[in-house]
Amino acid sequence: MRSYFTILCFCYLVNAIGQNNHGIIPKPVSYQSLSKKAVTINAQTQIIGPAQYLAQLHYLSVSLQNQTGLNLGINAPKRQGSAIVVKQDNKLIDHAEMYLLESKDNEIRITVKDLRGLVNAIQTLLQLCPLQKSSSFEVAAVQIKDYPRFEYRGMHLDVVRHMFPLEFIKKYIDYLTFHKFNTFHWHLTDDQGWRIEILSYPKLNTIGSWRNATLIGHFKDTPARYDSTRYGGFYTRKEVKEVIAYAALRGIEVIPEIDIPGHSRATITAYPEFSTKPDTTWNVATTWGMYNRQNNVLAPRPATFTFLRTIFHEISDLFPSKYIHVGGDECSKLWWKADPFSQAFMKEKGLKDEHALQTYFISQSAKFLKEKNKQVIGWHEILEGELDTSAIVMNWGGAKEGIEAGKLKHRVIMTPGKPYYFDHYQSHDPKDSLAIHGYNTMDSVYQYDPVPAALRDAKLDQYIIGGQANVWTEYMGYGTKVEYMIFPRMTALSESLWTPAADKNLDDFRRRLKQNMLPRYDFWGAHYFKQWEQWTRDKQ
Ligand code: ACM
Repeated sequence: MRSYFTILCFCYLVNAIGQNNHGIIPKPVSYQSLSKKAVTINAQTQIIGPAQYLAQLHYLSVSLQNQTGLNLGINAPKRQGSAIVVKQDNKLIDHAEMYLLESKDNEIRITVKDLRGLVNAIQTLLQLCPLQKSSSFEVAAVQIKDYPRFEYRGMHLDVVRHMFPLEFIKKYIDYLTFHKFNTFHWHLTDDQGWRIEILSYPKLNTIGSWRNATLIGHFKDTPARYDSTRYGGFYTRKEVKEVIAYAALRGIEVIPEIDIPGHSRATITAYPEFSTKPDTTWNVATTWGMYNRQNNVLAPRPATFTFLRTIFHEISDLFPSKYIHVGGDECSKLWWKADPFSQAFMKEKGLKDEHALQTYFISQSAKFLKEKNKQVIGWHEILEGELDTSAIVMNWGGAKEGIEAGKLKHRVIMTPGKPYYFDHYQSHDPKDSLAIHGYNTMDSVYQYDPVPAALRDAKLDQYIIGGQANVWTEYMGYGTKVEYMIFPRMTALSESLWTPAADKNLDDFRRRLKQNMLPRYDFWGAHYFKQWEQWTRDKQ
């Protein structure tokens, strides 16, 4: 027994000093311990790098100071002691977002070819440094080569059902950056409000941004109860620009979503003339789940298309992203069926049914966006009619919808409800905090492959460009609740989208989560779901 224990300890030790026993998340493509002296970082250490990355060098310096207390100088003329040296090398670095990090001989050398590569390297470096204040510390001698498995790695946030202060939006972007995501999908409009300032149609803000009450408790509770508090607001253009700049410095692209032609109750409240019943006084929704329950669609009137062209141009001028998300999901056909004007429009345009009308809205929006050199992302329902393949499909269904989109040669972002909806429960504990329904555990997020086997078998894997988790906030009134719902699932997702599939290992991930991330959540002051170990995938 005793010798068995000794062997176990020995094996553990060998592993501890070996190749892979690091705590880095997401796990790098290649990590090697070098048999060299560690690099000492202290107040003399300099950060040295090209002027084009000055903002990122500052970001590195500030991040290191927050974590370790050391305030390192940047590009000082005279160098003493160790250095963190950033180099650009477009030949050596042969993947987008890739970095090499080599720590030895009194230097930590980071080699990149783009801004995201550098931001990614910085996150790895932060994980190689101690998470405590000190006047001097050591970074082990290592060589890391790393790049992402998928080109699109996103997190969505619904700021309509509940809105969050600008400071939280920035914090959320910091969380994305740390986890080496590259896209923030900002869900800005829906039935329950408009959350972005629009100059061309001001009633979207004076009327559409405000609801008179909000549902209390769960959507399924009977009888339904409401508070009587006016709720709302919107991010000003200045704030939006601030978020875009904050994100850009950190390698994150912000993609706004303006959800049409369904999910438009706030729009038709502000401008009833865009609805199927222009004489109606609508109200911004105070409940959730409007699909087929309450009229929330745009009517295909000339004024509506003028509106769409104008706002999509305004949005395009504000956001530098190549893609604009136009929604397109859960568009009820009931209200178009019952509307003589919509029916006459369909006849005139030769649109065979309401699905074709829905696609007509999307293709018109795509045309307006193309005038501004933008392309469309839409939820998978945009495929209900025929659409040209420049549109990226964001699939919130399952493998079936992914295969359909891939067969039509659309690029696809996988955001399947199971397991990438982080508004679903992460336990069966009846005392767990309120969620919409479902059971998406951290394990299932980790183990899900965004390229389902059926897609690979159909040789359509190249059409899957990445994945994203969606954070619908009906039951998340505050940033702390958002944190509780995303952590640790977001951490699991980050590795699933970054690390080569063959290198994923749930047990090792759980070890690194405990060792590296739980202290980091605490350091951030972030809330997280603490019972993640107990609620495994199989515990139904
Ligand atoms: C969605 O969940 N309606 C995209």
